[in-house]
Amino acid sequence: MELFEAMQGRRSCRDYLPEPVGEELIEKVLEAATWAPSPLNTQPWEFFVITSKEIKGRIFDEAERCRVWALETSGWKWLDSYKVDFLRQAPVIIAIVGDPKKTGVDMFMEEGNIGYQAACAAAIQNMHLAAHSFGLSSLWFTLFNKSAIRVILGVDEAKTPVALVCLGKRASDIREVPRKSVKDKTTYLR
Ligand SMILES: Cc1cc2nc3c(=O)[nH]c(=O)nc-3n(C[C@H](O)[C@H](O)[C@H](O)COP(=O)(O)O)c2cc1C
Repeated sequence: MELFEAMQGRRSCRDYLPEPVGEELIEKVLEAATWAPSPLNTQPWEFFVITSKEIKGRIFDEAERCRVWALETSGWKWLDSYKVDFLRQAPVIIAIVGDPKKTGVDMFMEEGNIGYQAACAAAIQNMHLAAHSFGLSSLWFTLFNKSAIRVILGVDEAKTPVALVCLGKRASDIREVPRKSVKDKTTYLR
């Protein structure tokens, strides 16, 4: 698949078929992640591949708890009808865990210590694009408490669960999500 076509065609998926994803495909998606740039090539990511029904259930419970908390805290009405059932449905969830120590020179700068998160985000986007090019759908998910996910997955306290990526075959049609024009987002300083 052509790269621009992959970037335009990828859409978040919140409804999965139960069909499993082969380990070979999962590994290709992970390899795509590892080709992302990172500060000083620190490669601050680690991956936890979750197919266990029991662990997916615990992640669902945490996300559901967090959804209710976010609804009460923000008052955002859409959270009332937002369902996180896809966490139990998706055949695979990949947790991307970052190491804050592997962050580069930004650690000495104002608003620093985020280089590792930016690198993890680049890795996550590579995963989405690779998955899409292999005919899989995916979702970047962050509605969870980091400490809770650390406990569920057995992650070292010094590391940060940056995101969960759901992966699988889409069960329903793609919902188009528009973009603002480049013109509205760009300033040229000539
Ligand atoms: C940092 C980040 C966090 C996100 N967290 C969530 C999330 O917790 N739940 C969710 O359903 N979607 C989440 N998304 C997906 C966005 O909602 C989605 O990318 C956006 O609405 C644009 O839609 P598209 O991906 O289909 O183009 C997240 C995306 C990013 C980049």
